[in-house]
Amino acid sequence: MSVRNLKDRDLLGIADLNSHELHDLLQYAADLKTGIITPRCNQVLGLLFYKASTRTRVSFTVAMYQLEGHVIDLNPKVTQMGRGEPIADTARVLDRYLDILAIRTFKQEDIETVAQYATIPVINALTDIEHPCQILADLLTIKECFGDFQGNTVTFLGDGNNVAHSLILGCAMTGMNIRVASPPDYQPNPEIVAKAKSLAEGNCEIIVTDDANAAVEGSQVLYTDVWASMGQENLAQDRIPVFQPYQINSQLLSKADPEAIVLHCLPAHREEEITNEVIEGKQSRVWDQAENRMHAQKALISALLGLS
Ligand code: CP
Ligand code: NVA
Repeated sequence: MSVRNLKDRDLLGIADLNSHELHDLLQYAADLKTGIITPRCNQVLGLLFYKASTRTRVSFTVAMYQLEGHVIDLNPKVTQMGRGEPIADTARVLDRYLDILAIRTFKQEDIETVAQYATIPVINALTDIEHPCQILADLLTIKECFGDFQGNTVTFLGDGNNVAHSLILGCAMTGMNIRVASPPDYQPNPEIVAKAKSLAEGNCEIIVTDDANAAVEGSQVLYTDVWASMGQENLAQDRIPVFQPYQINSQLLSKADPEAIVLHCLPAHREEEITNEVIEGKQSRVWDQAENRMHAQKALISALLGLS
């Protein structure tokens, strides 16, 4: 399995994996979930989070505990990071103590700096540009629901930022059609879309549009995220009318494949990007998706530490 190639690597974006490595990592996560493989370690994961987190923080922590490893919560508020110690200095020091480090921050460049100065594996636990760990769990959920990736169309509705970016790349790497429907001023970064097209090598369609109804037509997966991400809270009220046409509600869902599933990275703002009826409805898979964060990240940690 090419998962062995991942030892000592970083995951700063989902496309740091090649398509084979991604498929193998997902299969490894599925095997870990069944319990047929139980890797063990005695190593230490640091969690350096500059933004709030429930799922990522807890799923990484529990995954490491299940591996019999240890976790240190490096809250910037109670360390020197919060007082402005340079990230490159912090990286070189943490590198001497930890075995693996997951970072949630704003700028993608900051995790690239940490990865440059630290020799241990560095994981992107969300930046303003990407959320690769989320997409590992999303792909695992899609694989569980449909058995395969090929032939599925995933439609993302809403803000074309971090989660959407990793999803576009992840779909391209697994050969799924990806449609992103966003208001004109909130469409995904064209460089990410171009990178996805290059990774897809013509094996799937990649569409960016402002037409939510057309995008949803016949899709197997509908996916959304909050309309105002962390750090954009002051813009939330102004965005509501702009994003309203992209809300996943029962009327929009009725245009998708009748067997379609609904995903959301969570946390959800009910009656904004998704209605209560849909997130609580029979097509929602959001709780399985959240659980899969733990299985996917356990596989990722195991692979990067060479336990596989
Ligand atoms: N989806 C996700 O990353 O959730 P948290 O912000 O709670 O970690
Ligand atoms: N786009 C959201 C994702 C949260 C998991 C944010 O960045 O806040």
